Amino acid sequence: MIIDLQNVSYRKNGKLILDSVNWQVEAGEHWIILGLNGSGKTTLLNMINGYIFPLYGGYANVLGYQFGNCPIADLRKHIGWISNALTENIPVNDTPLEIILSGKFASLGLWEKVGDEDIAKAEAIMEKLGIMKLRDRTFSSLSQGEKQKVVIGRALISDPEIIIFDEACNGLDIFAKKDLYQLIEKLAEDKKSIFFVTHNTDEILPMFNKALLIKEGKIHSKGDLKDVIQLENLQDFYGSEVDVFERNDRFFIHAK
Ligand SMILES: Nc1ncnc2c1ncn2[C@@H]1O[C@H](COP(=O)(O)OP(=O)(O)OP(=O)(O)O)[C@@H](O)[C@H]1O
Ligand SMILES: [Mg+2]
Repeated sequence: MIIDLQNVSYRKNGKLILDSVNWQVEAGEHWIILGLNGSGKTTLLNMINGYIFPLYGGYANVLGYQFGNCPIADLRKHIGWISNALTENIPVNDTPLEIILSGKFASLGLWEKVGDEDIAKAEAIMEKLGIMKLRDRTFSSLSQGEKQKVVIGRALISDPEIIIFDEACNGLDIFAKKDLYQLIEKLAEDKKSIFFVTHNTDEILPMFNKALLIKEGKIHSKGDLKDVIQLENLQDFYGSEVDVFERNDRFFIHAK
């Protein structure tokens, strides 16, 4: 098991944001995470990353790091984290090379010394992502899609076991999206566990075998994708009429 959350709650400024969450993930599973704005998805993933701790009484263990029982600062080096929240906080004058290297230390900004080997690895990642030509530009001068690729490169440099995409397709054109989907499928083949948060419910790629539905800080339903992504369950989850259909092994969910 790579994630074991038992009775996990989280409160901020008096508001219960996560409420008695139980969630277990086995290696090799790929999860789609759905929930309306403000339901607690990013907060949950921040906990998985070790940025926040559960309230007293909860148990959290991620990749063998047991919260409260051992130092978990290193945990985030084993997890690739791709989110707009992160993109917004990257120093605007840093170059793609520096940003990708900073992933090795899970830091914003590159503060540590790096060796030739690290640089060669960052360059290999840039080649793979097709962004070598951006190597020495400033981050602020890049397009949205180019920035996204740099942030993905940053997530890959430490060979993480888990890669989290938190609304990673926002602002990408249809071809950039297709590229990203192909990359995600390749990462899944490389034995990474992928968690994918999205509001665009036409992004449920066939490789995803599990789904987690979060509503108002609580888990509404979870489990095998085909059991969770079905009409009755989704209508109950959204409290509204939706359409679900499957095409080319991909699920699509739309408001009616
Ligand atoms: N520092 C904070 N103080 C108070 N409330 C907070 C704080 N951080 C998050 N929240 C609240 O917690 C709830 C869950 O936030 P979270 O970012 O986890 O939602 P989300 O499911 O990721 O939403 P979205 O789809 O909009 O990204 C929201 O209502 C948010 O306003
Ligand atoms: Mg969010």
